[in-house]
Amino acid sequence: MKRIAVLTSGGDAPGMNAAIRAVVRTGLDKGWDVFGVRHGYVGLVNDNIVALGARDVGGIIQQGGTVLGSSRCPEFETEEGRLKALRTLQQHDIDALIVIGGNGSQRGAHELSQMDYPVIGVASTIDNDLYGSEMTIGVDTALNIALEAIDRLKITASSHQRAFLVEVMGRECGYLALMTSIAGGAEFVVIPEVETDPEVVAARLRADYRKGKAHALVVVAEGAKYNADKLRLYFQEHRERLGFDLRVTILGHVQRGGAPGAFDRLLSTRMGAAATDKLALGEHGILMGLLKGEIAATPLAEVATNKKQLDLRLLELARALNK
Ligand code: F6P
Repeated sequence: MKRIAVLTSGGDAPGMNAAIRAVVRTGLDKGWDVFGVRHGYVGLVNDNIVALGARDVGGIIQQGGTVLGSSRCPEFETEEGRLKALRTLQQHDIDALIVIGGNGSQRGAHELSQMDYPVIGVASTIDNDLYGSEMTIGVDTALNIALEAIDRLKITASSHQRAFLVEVMGRECGYLALMTSIAGGAEFVVIPEVETDPEVVAARLRADYRKGKAHALVVVAEGAKYNADKLRLYFQEHRERLGFDLRVTILGHVQRGGAPGAFDRLLSTRMGAAATDKLALGEHGILMGLLKGEIAATPLAEVATNKKQLDLRLLELARALNK
């Protein structure tokens, strides 16, 4: 290895910058030249590559987002797009690529690696839905942002004895919603993995009210069949019969925009550094993730073909804690 490149792809996640910094500085430490690809796979397809020195990644470890820019790139999903990307890497004499991103990005990394190009993935998405890593970059910070919102909503909810519904991100995965509900002491949680009838939500809220609770808070995942918009509509339509209003807050992208906390800075730094270490050993076609507390590699072929399962025992824990 002499020259490596790094890119960030898909939804930005707090900690991506710390990972870029780690890749650049540990790469330089090995005597390599390091390059940054601007705006994810779009920059590979359109030849947008810059050299990165140690100073270029100074003062970014504490910043959310990604200084390289990110994108979702439909062109890279075509063979023609991937061939263009490969040509860009070859024209710049780049020996290997590090891809910091989630599911779609790592599927792209796998495709490149199947074209015999050396690629290493770094597990990054606030959704925590990537096979090969128990925690991905940005999850912890996104959870803390959701919790801050919930703590605040509980204050106003208690003052008015109101029911609140908070929708969190997570695409098709209920991890963020489930963890937010447990750590935030919510009354109920709705996740995509378990279909929940709106009447069940109403029954739970009514039961909580009878228990004398000052507020009732439901966390719902954006990917649930009945997400915030659908539940809001249902509760409006059946207001008379159900007997109460539901105030709705959709957190959305607010969750992605935070400054990374200590956990994400350290996770990102360790994964970024592990990626260059693996390249130095001549290993590639793998994803760097967190497994049993250690940074460990999983073949990209496995990452691309397996779905990470949510531990549904935690749903039972959430239920047991609501008294
Ligand atoms: O994958 C991260 C994520 O934030 C998901 O939780 C969400 O569904 C999606 O990205 C939103 O994508 P975009 O930023 O492209 O609207």
